[in-house]
Amino acid sequence: MLKFLKALALSATLAALTHPVSADTLGLGRPATQNEVTAWDIDVRPDGVGLPEGGGDVETGEEIFAEQCAVCHGDFGEGVDRWPVLAGGQDTLASDDPVKTIGSYWPYLSTVYDYVHRAMPFGDAQSLSGDDVYALTAYLLYVNDLVEDDFELTRENFLEVRLPNEENFYLDDRLESPLFSAREVCMADCKTNVEITKRARILDVTPEQDANLEVEQNPDQDNAPVPADAEPVVEIDAELAAVGKKVFRKCKACHQVGDSAKNRTGPALTNIVGASIGAVTGFKYSKAFTEKAGEGLIWDGVTLDAFLAKPKAWAKGTKMNFAGLKKEKDRQAVIEYLKSATE
Ligand code: HEC
Ligand code: HEC
Repeated sequence: MLKFLKALALSATLAALTHPVSADTLGLGRPATQNEVTAWDIDVRPDGVGLPEGGGDVETGEEIFAEQCAVCHGDFGEGVDRWPVLAGGQDTLASDDPVKTIGSYWPYLSTVYDYVHRAMPFGDAQSLSGDDVYALTAYLLYVNDLVEDDFELTRENFLEVRLPNEENFYLDDRLESPLFSAREVCMADCKTNVEITKRARILDVTPEQDANLEVEQNPDQDNAPVPADAEPVVEIDAELAAVGKKVFRKCKACHQVGDSAKNRTGPALTNIVGASIGAVTGFKYSKAFTEKAGEGLIWDGVTLDAFLAKPKAWAKGTKMNFAGLKKEKDRQAVIEYLKSATE
């Protein structure tokens, strides 16, 4: 509904700008009135367009914040429980756990005004007056150490306040950039052949529908053909192999297994258990692997377990970009699956 109304207001604006087509020509609805458009047209832009007359100071903002915002965001914007943090976080952007706040991350103060006016307080959006929002914005600057406690924010001085992270944002210049304009961009029927090369399931983002059912039915293992030259014939723990099939989803981005398996990023792993290391035809192994192969190693439960636990430690310089399977259970299961797999 919201989107629809917005679209209506927008198309009405456009219609007013060009010529009033929709209502009469299409026989649908009526043009939005000026008041309706004004009510929807609340965005505030970085250049100050959209800011109302007025202002508010830190002290007033603190009072409103304590009453209407602090329950969720904390008295100083530090965030209660898991509600958003609104202050601090400077110098954390390059860390593993960046805290993105108005002070540390946001590029423009206009976004603070626009957001608070448009969406807060959560559950009672757009209940604040223009002056309230100026005062709250001033207070949010204060708790981010960007202004002093006697600061008053007004429409007049609004553009003088710059947020510290502004410079790390770039304007989108793709329309002008020679990098893009120099080249003809195809917009229709560009590709004659579209081929699906990967599916979400293989990328391990879609959970399997009925895990239990699959374990019981276990379609792959019961009549898995054992290649005539595979010796010795191994007993397979079907239940464990079924678990391993799931673990193998972590490998599927790079490896195939089974009768029609092909080399991909990694070598095909059909009949890998019992085979020599680095010996799949047509696969270009890393130097690390070629050297290991030279030592005459065989892939058995022990070597596979060690390799899969920490590939990079076991074969320094391997091009298998995989952190490893931490849990021994997972390694045992996937090895069992590799013994059996005919997928
Ligand atoms: C009931 C809890 C609640 C109250 C009260 C509340 N907020 Fe929020 N606030 C939220 C939630 C939830 C979000 C995140 C919303 C989202 O991401 O869609 C948020 C987001 C924000 C953000 C953006 C934070 C960011 O980095 O994305 C600002 C700024 C903000 N609130 C200011 C205020 C102000 C000012 C008030 C008081 C007028 C207020 N809030 C009252 C829950 C609340
Ligand atoms: C990001 C891609 C990638 C992922 C994910 C991956 N591998 Fe590999 N794997 C490779 C590459 C590349 C090699 C070849 C290593 C080399 O040449 O250094 C390899 C080699 C192997 C080998 C040795 C094959 C041979 O012929 O000696 C085994 C066994 C193996 N991977 C098993 C697994 C298993 C099991 C998983 C999942 C738990 C897995 N890999 C995940 C890329 C991957």
